[in-house]
Amino acid sequence: MTDFRWDKLATDGMSRRGRLHTAHGPVETPAFMPVGTAATVKAMAPWDVAQTGAQMVLGNTYHLMLRPGAERVAKLGGLHRFMAWDGPILTDSGGFQVMSLAQLRQLDETGVTFKSHIDGSTHALSPERSVEIQDLLDADVTMQLDECPPAGWPHDKVADSMRLSLRWAERCQRAFRERPGYGLFGIVQGGVYDDLRRESARELSAMDLPGYAVGGLAVGEGQAETFRVLEVTCPELPADKPRYLMGVGRPDDIVGAVMRGIDMFDCVLPTRSGRTGQAFTARGPINLKNARHREDTRPLDPNCDCATCTTFSRAYLHHLIRSEEMLGPMLLSRHNVHYYQALMAGLRGAIERGELTEHAQALAEGWHAGDI
Ligand code: GUN
Ligand code: ZN
Repeated sequence: MTDFRWDKLATDGMSRRGRLHTAHGPVETPAFMPVGTAATVKAMAPWDVAQTGAQMVLGNTYHLMLRPGAERVAKLGGLHRFMAWDGPILTDSGGFQVMSLAQLRQLDETGVTFKSHIDGSTHALSPERSVEIQDLLDADVTMQLDECPPAGWPHDKVADSMRLSLRWAERCQRAFRERPGYGLFGIVQGGVYDDLRRESARELSAMDLPGYAVGGLAVGEGQAETFRVLEVTCPELPADKPRYLMGVGRPDDIVGAVMRGIDMFDCVLPTRSGRTGQAFTARGPINLKNARHREDTRPLDPNCDCATCTTFSRAYLHHLIRSEEMLGPMLLSRHNVHYYQALMAGLRGAIERGELTEHAQALAEGWHAGDI
């Protein structure tokens, strides 16, 4: 059985090209993980997800503990077997989703209690229970339970919250069942405050965890602030451990974060926007709902070799989205996830060649050129 380990293969400035080894196989980094919240990457079969080049997907403790239940998933052979995804899975710890989705939330030192957004039933999530649930799911990467403070909180409140997340990280580390190929990630918090980010990153680094996430970003602070926080945080993290920026983002956010030392990403954007008709292309995002595509026989993105772009016209995709046919979200999700995976492959190649700056410049020029 493989050790849980991240190998650094090449660097270019702050950016790193690496390989994460897990119980369910390797992940080439920088990597983008499609979001499979409820044991499915929405509107995509697992073989479609694999065909885009994605190697690892994300699942959610919050959703799966409520439905179908962690003990039930374990009884059915774990999340990989349940959803027929053989590759690595990272699960988020639940706290972030409780705060954004659940009602009547109550957070204290012991953890968080909340009412389910599905049936109103009451549940509790402690650091220990979150780790236990992620173990029952059989997640290759377990995330610590943390609190993600909303943008706009003052320094003293963010400081208390960040230190609570640090105490929870220690409880998660004690509760985590060490086994080959499985790892626990700590989550750096501290809002937009440099001193708090440094304190959080230093304290977590001293715990010698298998990987580190940067949380509490993309909550409305804006790209410039996100990048500044990464410039403060990444140098404080161990150089030989993977770094994961949670919930980010747009293609330009990802490129900027890779240039500042991030290795892993997840975001609902490619799948969620695919369901509403938005597609990412080398010439920026386009909306297939727009009437200008009504009789357009060209592919969605002539630079893309995904099944959607090599088979269908913009006119057909426009028709599917306008008619609210299920195939529309399926085809656009496939293209968008493929686009994100091709973006990551391009970044990995550019880091290997030592040409990331030039590559990023060329990508930005394409996005700004606009749709043809
Ligand atoms: N997803 C996006 N941001 C966060 C965060 O700060 N914490 C967790 N656990 N998940 C996230
Ligand atoms: Zn495509």
